[in-house]
Amino acid sequence: MKDNPSIGVIGLGYVGLVTAVTFAKLGFRVLGNDIDSNKIDLLKQKKSPIYEPGLEELLKEVMDSNLFEPTEDFQRTVRESDILFICVGTPTNPDGSPNLVYIEEVARGIAENLNGYKLIVEKSTVPVGTARWIERTIKLYAGKDADFDVASNPEFLREGNALHDTFNPDRIVIGVESERAKNLLLKLYEKIDAPKLVVDINTAEIIKHASNAFLAMKISFINMVADLCERTGADVKLVADGMGYDRRIGRAFLNAGIGYGGSCFPKDVRAFHYIGTKNGADFSLLEKVEQINNSRIDRFMDHVKEALWYLRNKKIAVWGLSFKPNTDDIREAPSIKVVRRLMEEGADIHAYDPKAMDNFRKLFPDINYVDNKYDALKDAHALLLITEWDEFMPGNVDFEKVKELMRTPIIVDGRNIYDCEFLEPLGFEYYPMGRKKCKRE
Ligand code: UDX
Ligand code: UDX
Repeated sequence: MKDNPSIGVIGLGYVGLVTAVTFAKLGFRVLGNDIDSNKIDLLKQKKSPIYEPGLEELLKEVMDSNLFEPTEDFQRTVRESDILFICVGTPTNPDGSPNLVYIEEVARGIAENLNGYKLIVEKSTVPVGTARWIERTIKLYAGKDADFDVASNPEFLREGNALHDTFNPDRIVIGVESERAKNLLLKLYEKIDAPKLVVDINTAEIIKHASNAFLAMKISFINMVADLCERTGADVKLVADGMGYDRRIGRAFLNAGIGYGGSCFPKDVRAFHYIGTKNGADFSLLEKVEQINNSRIDRFMDHVKEALWYLRNKKIAVWGLSFKPNTDDIREAPSIKVVRRLMEEGADIHAYDPKAMDNFRKLFPDINYVDNKYDALKDAHALLLITEWDEFMPGNVDFEKVKELMRTPIIVDGRNIYDCEFLEPLGFEYYPMGRKKCKRE
């Protein structure tokens, strides 16, 4: 093996693409492979298939310097790489278990093309025990003398902050069972200044699931408290501040609202519950986490109905469709469930999102999409705030204009970004989650 190991990344979704271009930026030669030929075609034109701040610029940079090459050729990716990162999707089966069929196919493909030592690293989030299956699969198809190691190196990047998180992680988890694998992974991350935790593979796999499930639990916890605040006239934002000062708790991930979405938390909570229960542990806590999160949509819709009574033929403006700001990703976004409910009630929906409208249109071709936030408001009976993009933040909105445009000045806020004290004097009715409403009786 050369001094500078070459890297192959299999699966160029959110995680894989970021992994590929960031290793290239660190000076490694990276081949990126995906079965989706449209994706590879776009990448060859130096265009990013997803919106992630800074990603397209970095993609151009590392392709111009010949450090990153996207390819449809799986065989070549395996044969020309010393280290292979598996970043394919791990969707959920109907029973909550993760579907690992793509991981298995990739492992088989690697086995069939093995040409010397390889370090095979799982980056996709997988249940504990998956590395063992990868190892067994490779031995089964490449023979028991095959020269390889399997490792687990989970990612903790947040969409919308993916590049920053990759170059400045809180920690790097390296799950290995050989010195050779450990040294290779430590070399890859040599230039990143972060605590490096070297553990066994099962531990690494559990660290990832446990971290995401814990963060989801924090959100459901504060959402549970939000309901109590709402019924007793307390303010959940101040409760979260008060809790957050305690360093053992921390203020992060205590923002109450419409609940968590995205490609990770919902799936990982279900998968962790599944694997825990399957191993005979009591993971029922996570059932509640999911249940509370699902009920956030009911709470939000309760507010909409409280404000408008019936929705039939009413014009509803929706601000924000992505599951969080700074991404075009709508996987398991709360907006999907809200828009479905609004459609069932016969509302006339006018939606705006800075980046996610193209993806949303594929799911909901029949609602109205507008090109800027104010266009959604003309004659609207209510404004529903679903995603806290910067341009919706109080300092970036002309509320006089909002009021003038709307038929009835009602705002239902799923992210608690506005305040009654500010909106009431301007003549708005305001419905946050777990905080004081201002409502004309
Ligand atoms: C995925 C997992 O869902 C997540 O749990 C894990 O942590 C990382 O991988 P993400 O990158 O967001 O997350 O998934 P996605 O955007 O769906 O990308 C997966 C990519 O793999 C797709 O581009 C798909 O075309 C590709 N793929 C899938 C392959 O290249 N080969 C396959 O056999 C299957
Ligand atoms: C998450 C993890 O943070 C990351 O470490 C992991 O590897 C992938 O999954 P991501 O899904 O990109 O990242 O976004 P994140 O910022 O964690 O938010 C997830 C969801 O929780 C979003 O829908 C967000 O709106 C919601 N959220 C987050 C809250 O409702 N309240 C909060 O306080 C924080």
